[in-house]
Amino acid sequence: NTRVLTGIKPSGTPHLGNYVGAIRPAITASRQGGIESFFFLADYHALISVTEPARVQDATLQIAASWLAAGLEPEPGKVWFYRQSDLPETTELTWLLSCVAGKGLLNRAHAYKAANDRNREAGVDEDAGVSAGLYMYPVLMAADILLFNAHRVPVGRDQVQHIEMARDFAQRFNHLYGEHFTLPEAAIEEHVATLPGLDGRKMSKSYDNVIPLFAPRERLRKLVYSMVTDSRGPSEPKDTEGSNVFELYQAFATGEETAAMRGAFAGGIAWADAKQALFERIDAELAPVRERYQELVAAPERIETLLQENAALLREQKVAPLLRELRAAVGLRPL
Ligand code: TYM
Repeated sequence: NTRVLTGIKPSGTPHLGNYVGAIRPAITASRQGGIESFFFLADYHALISVTEPARVQDATLQIAASWLAAGLEPEPGKVWFYRQSDLPETTELTWLLSCVAGKGLLNRAHAYKAANDRNREAGVDEDAGVSAGLYMYPVLMAADILLFNAHRVPVGRDQVQHIEMARDFAQRFNHLYGEHFTLPEAAIEEHVATLPGLDGRKMSKSYDNVIPLFAPRERLRKLVYSMVTDSRGPSEPKDTEGSNVFELYQAFATGEETAAMRGAFAGGIAWADAKQALFERIDAELAPVRERYQELVAAPERIETLLQENAALLREQKVAPLLRELRAAVGLRPL
């Protein structure tokens, strides 16, 4: 069986980028035969940026409900669905990997470099406001992946570097201690690798340009209409290249619909009409999901039970045996 694994950080409300870049492709993959899937809520990762306990908990519930509403059907042994922190061994593996992770490699991690770019712009000291947690982010993520020896990790393009680092740590560990880890590969959906946000930059909580996955219909319409476009007037031909409206449309439409929209752009569709078509397309796909989501968040105990059951089985069947093996390999007493 091919093991497929991916996580989402519960640090805010889920948005269309998470859905198109992670949730939707992962669920589609999980339905194929010969695949064992691991989907989880990366709440240890959320602590790097969120220091309000209630927000971590709310976001965890919201993201869990999003996966289930989008059609995830957990089934231990085939489709695992769990919370990262319910597997505390993740942090132990993080330590074992830290001891083989090159510091120089971590210096080049995007999130860390971005924090220092901001420091430079603001004229403050290098590493100001950077926690060791942020710096270690890729090692924690490698632990998530290697804990289950995942073969494939479906993610958006922003995460590819982290998966390459996980391969690097796994390789060094294997080199030192024998073949314990499978080298993971990133799996990216080419045409929707990075979904743009309202302003055209990557849709991201940190840019404040997101369309929430479960915005009510009217709010969704307003947000789509507020998307930034160029100023070409009605009936002027428009570029599909680099257009956030077009790219979002493509992410929610069939190949045929996309081809028709490409023609409409060349023929000078008005921005308002393109946005209306986009709004209708997103709404058609998400309306049923939105309804299931509301039912799910109204009964959080069901989600909680499910997450805890999955984690308990994983610890027993997979995590404990691996950690025993790894502890012995490095010279610690196997528990
Ligand atoms: P996070 O929570 O930032 O994002 C979750 C997933 O959504 C994708 N994504 C996007 N895809 C397309 N367009 C966008 N605008 C967009 N914004 C976000 C991300 O690429 C990601 O796949 N570190 C990870 C969570 C994580 C993880 C892991 C993932 C922790 N451990 C192990 C895979 C394997 C993160 O912060 O994702």
